[in-house]
Amino acid sequence: MEKIIDENKQGEALVLEQKEGNKRKLFIESYGCAMNFSDSEIVASILATAGFNTTQNLEDADLVLVNTCSIRDKAEQTVRKRLEKYNAVKRDSNPKMKVGVLGCMAERLKTKFLEEEKIVDLVVGPDAYKDLPNLLAEVDEGRDAINVILSKEETYGDISPVRLNTNGVTAFVSITRGCDNMCTFCVVPFTRGRERSRDPQSIIEEINDLWDRGFKEITLLGQNVDSYLWYGGGLKKDFDKASDFQKATAVNFSNLLELCAKTQPKMRIRFSTSNPQDLTLDVVETMAKYQNICNHIHLPVQSGSNRILKEMNRLHTREEYMALIDNIRKIIPDCAISQDMIVGFPTETEADFQDTVSLMDYVKYNFGYMFTYSERPGTLAERKMIDDVPEEVKKRRLQDIVDLQREHSEIRTKEHLNTVVEVLIEKESKKSDTQWSGRTPQNIVAVFPKEHYKVGDFVNVKVTDCTSATLIGVAVGLSMNN
Ligand code: SAH
Ligand code: F3S
Repeated sequence: MEKIIDENKQGEALVLEQKEGNKRKLFIESYGCAMNFSDSEIVASILATAGFNTTQNLEDADLVLVNTCSIRDKAEQTVRKRLEKYNAVKRDSNPKMKVGVLGCMAERLKTKFLEEEKIVDLVVGPDAYKDLPNLLAEVDEGRDAINVILSKEETYGDISPVRLNTNGVTAFVSITRGCDNMCTFCVVPFTRGRERSRDPQSIIEEINDLWDRGFKEITLLGQNVDSYLWYGGGLKKDFDKASDFQKATAVNFSNLLELCAKTQPKMRIRFSTSNPQDLTLDVVETMAKYQNICNHIHLPVQSGSNRILKEMNRLHTREEYMALIDNIRKIIPDCAISQDMIVGFPTETEADFQDTVSLMDYVKYNFGYMFTYSERPGTLAERKMIDDVPEEVKKRRLQDIVDLQREHSEIRTKEHLNTVVEVLIEKESKKSDTQWSGRTPQNIVAVFPKEHYKVGDFVNVKVTDCTSATLIGVAVGLSMNN
């Protein structure tokens, strides 16, 4: 999920329409994955009912909230730097300001945050946002406040999120929280708790509301969307104990996708992230059946080596993954597939790394997100393995696959040359104010001259040129989907 967020948006202060009568000012910024950005919208919505309007100005904020990420050490360092900045602002120009930490770092560090960072007044984990008004009352009385309790039930399904800094066209809709997978490198199961799914009824209501307000594309969000399972509430792991009726009426991810696609047949539907061990072909068949479900699957594999996959506790082999790719392409020949990879996982040899390279050569992903392994405290890998691949080897391997991915992306974008693709216009191109920028169903960015088109239009674009990541073209008319 990390990948969906535009790099430029990381840390940007979020603003929303102001509610009359609200006196206090909230500055909220988010780091990390799309789920954090989506959660910040829930938080802003909760605080709008507790007297807060948002501001983009640190200097006049009564409350500063930072939604944090723990996925790699670097992400945590970025947040620490921000806290230094808040400290300086508080000291120099805004002594009344209170500071709260939300998200994965709050959950991971708990009270340590209050001890280590004097600037922090409030620590709130991802399942405790509804408690924010109570916690703030404590802070107002001069006490530090903390709630990092993880929940079995909380999905925020009953909160209608305000849309922060929105383009008015695309939105995230969260469908599951937490993760039960326990990949040995990953901190998420510790910071976001056990997996639970949101009531499909509330998902559909949110999508209908977005459509009524002019949104044209939604991304269903979860750490592992394919394991979505609604049977009336409760943890995924407790499904075995459900009644026969609950089992018979349960909604899985394929059912949910179909429900969304049918309910709003003109809304583009995306989802992220899929885990290869849980992605079933009925999901791919549902994608093929509904034209409004975008032909793109983000399918992180992390490594091409069977031995490393096993050490990572990824519950599939290289061969099973390749067979899944073959099957996806049989059902949807033009399905874009993207990856996440980790290089330098403990004990990774050159031969293991070459297995990653050859897997990438086999799939030729459309795009991907690649990382060097970062040891995370408390994970199984940290407890049981030595972080033994030297930093310079990690960096070299990363550069090798980044270069390889660029070649593959170029091959993939070139496949679209001289074809007509459908683009949903999202915003002005960063490079030129005479061009629109949007994405194709395969999630490739396309730019073209604005002419008379407007944000939110589905436009057919003839592709005349491309870079490794972007299609360049001219509009040939509105698409039938408008
Ligand atoms: N299922 C999640 C994965 C979240 S983490 C999702 O919805 O995207 C996103 C990516 O970060 C992972 O796929 C993995 O490639 C990378 N990652 C996770 N933990 C990491 C670590 N300890 N070091 C380096 N990269 C990591
Ligand atoms: Fe992390 Fe693996 Fe879940 S990468 S979020 S434990 S699927």
